[in-house]
Amino acid sequence: MTEIVSVAQTDLKWPKYTGKVRDTYDLGGGFLLIISTDRISAFDVIFNEPVPGKGVILNEMSKFWFSITEDVTPNHLNNKDSQTFEEGILNLIPKHLVDRSMIVKKAERVNIECVVRGHIAGSAWEEYVKDGTINKNPVKQILHPGDAFLDPIFTPTTKADAGHDQSLSDDETVNLIGTDLFNALKSKSLELFNYAYEIAKLRGMILADTKFEFGFLDGELILIDELLTPDSSRFWDENEIQYGQFPPAYDKQFLRQWLMDKGWNQEPPPPALPNKIIIKTRDRYLEAYKRITGTELQLKKEIT
Ligand SMILES: Nc1ncnc2c1ncn2[C@@H]1O[C@H](COP(=O)(O)OP(=O)(O)OP(=O)(O)O)[C@@H](O)[C@H]1O
Ligand SMILES: [Mg+2]
Repeated sequence: MTEIVSVAQTDLKWPKYTGKVRDTYDLGGGFLLIISTDRISAFDVIFNEPVPGKGVILNEMSKFWFSITEDVTPNHLNNKDSQTFEEGILNLIPKHLVDRSMIVKKAERVNIECVVRGHIAGSAWEEYVKDGTINKNPVKQILHPGDAFLDPIFTPTTKADAGHDQSLSDDETVNLIGTDLFNALKSKSLELFNYAYEIAKLRGMILADTKFEFGFLDGELILIDELLTPDSSRFWDENEIQYGQFPPAYDKQFLRQWLMDKGWNQEPPPPALPNKIIIKTRDRYLEAYKRITGTELQLKKEIT
């Protein structure tokens, strides 16, 4: 039988940092290797079963966005002067990992997450209902679940090493990083969001919110990390918008629904995922890729 290549863990020779989904290696010489695995999480818990091909899809999606936003903001993907280095490293990476790998320039990270919201959802909704504020900033509009803001808003958070990221008010952010950097991050983030929103909209997808990360490289502010993937963003299907309700997340809706129907308490250990849910979820990521980029992605198969 042929199966899609699946990668849940990696173990390469460089110093490794393991995130929920990606494995990041420090290659030295100012470069990082970011490998998107097929791990999947829901409600902040990582499942034991991977979704074969998910990492490839997310890696390609990030690359798509990095490439088309290059003119708005430079990013950590390599340019021509590092091509020789990249080719050398690619020879050292096992072949089955290449299409889920990104060799990037290591930047001095700005330690906040630049969240932009075009529609209200998630933690912003919770705060709005509780206090009438978002990131402790007052909200003038009356909002229903999933409503669009009059204009997208910048709602940064801390980048917590452990536990949940905390939302930051404008003043708190300025205190952390200074006025100039705050203004630069805010305007870049909003510009990127507006651009991506329009592109997604053309294909019937609503980009409800997303998270950008930035860093400095040779004194220049650049985009780092992943970009506008379903792991860092909330995408909704335009056809699933119903007034006054949160539309389901495009990528994980089958998974989340299945978990809720099962009555799982969202605490580890997670339940074992049935194959049918894994396949449906994978197809959703492929569909998201196709809708967003306008092209199909063929996942590689291995003979088992
Ligand atoms: N070009 C870069 N230069 C420096 N650091 C980077 C660069 N690109 C990404 N990073 C950092 O590498 C790390 C990648 O980690 P990853 O996203 O996998 O885990 P995490 O952010 O700790 O947790 P989560 O899995 O919840 O996202 C992040 O801390 C990110 O900020
Ligand atoms: Mg991360």
